[in-house]
Amino acid sequence: MYFIYACPLQIMDSCAIREITILPGHDKSGRTEQFQEIVIRPGDTISIVGPTGSGKTAFINDIEVFAQNDTATGRTVLVNGEIPPEEYIRDPSMKPVALITQNTKCLADLSVDTFLTMHVRARRIGNPEIVKETIDLANQFTGEQIQPTCRITALSGGQTRSLMVADAILISNAPLILLDEVENAGIFREKVIRVLKEHCKSVIFVTHDPLVSLLSDRRIVMRNGAVEKVLEPKGEERQILEFVERIDVTLCLFRERIRAGELLTGQGMSV
Ligand SMILES: Nc1ncnc2c1ncn2[C@@H]1O[C@H](COP(=O)(O)OP(=O)(O)OP(=O)(O)O)[C@@H](O)[C@H]1O
Ligand SMILES: [Mg+2]
Repeated sequence: MYFIYACPLQIMDSCAIREITILPGHDKSGRTEQFQEIVIRPGDTISIVGPTGSGKTAFINDIEVFAQNDTATGRTVLVNGEIPPEEYIRDPSMKPVALITQNTKCLADLSVDTFLTMHVRARRIGNPEIVKETIDLANQFTGEQIQPTCRITALSGGQTRSLMVADAILISNAPLILLDEVENAGIFREKVIRVLKEHCKSVIFVTHDPLVSLLSDRRIVMRNGAVEKVLEPKGEERQILEFVERIDVTLCLFRERIRAGELLTGQGMSV
């Protein structure tokens, strides 16, 4: 299954972002990274892969803080080819990047709809339906339904991340979304990728998941704190993707049945 969407540049223009450029820093031993630049444009789907400790989180953190050779990696991040304006860093409402990690938590002791309504008001969004739309979208990402009256602090990890992704898409309207290993946390990965593409969001996944990696247009491979290579399969992995999708359907089925407390005896199942 492939998702092909035309992403006109104007969509990112609402936040005046046409491209984000990452310039090389150095690895953990101080050696300069061997890429010229990595450019992220509207609608790009990128995954970051590599062993534990290889610098995947550091890479997306550099983007989140718009590093200017002032982080451990020495990288520089430009917006539309220039040093980004101060308010991108200072003012959270101006920030064109949303970072969601496995540890992302909302600490406000408010109901889901009060929390979202406050955010909508802070962003001066006129659409009165947007809170409901955000909760509905979040509920498409998670099997555990979120009720508007539910306390934010009482949401599960999967519900929280689903809500944060939906918020980043509809309310924050961030053109670039960074997701750090959220795929195992009870959210529907393919659905998230499809909706992000439909909304022309650029997305970078730090992932160990073969399906998420194969669904991305580019794969950045990290080693020893540096970008080792950037793979752009351009359809070459299509057969394997179809195979992995089939395996994934079976695994999801098993996961749901285990969650439901069933004993998997193999009866009536084709493996
Ligand atoms: N280029 C670099 N130079 C110096 N230190 C680095 C560099 N890249 C990463 N580090 C540091 O190495 C440590 C591990 O990096 P990081 O957390 O990004 O790894 P990771 O690939 O996300 O690992 P995991 O899969 O366990 O989440 C961190 O303390 C980070 O600050
Ligand atoms: Mg990490």
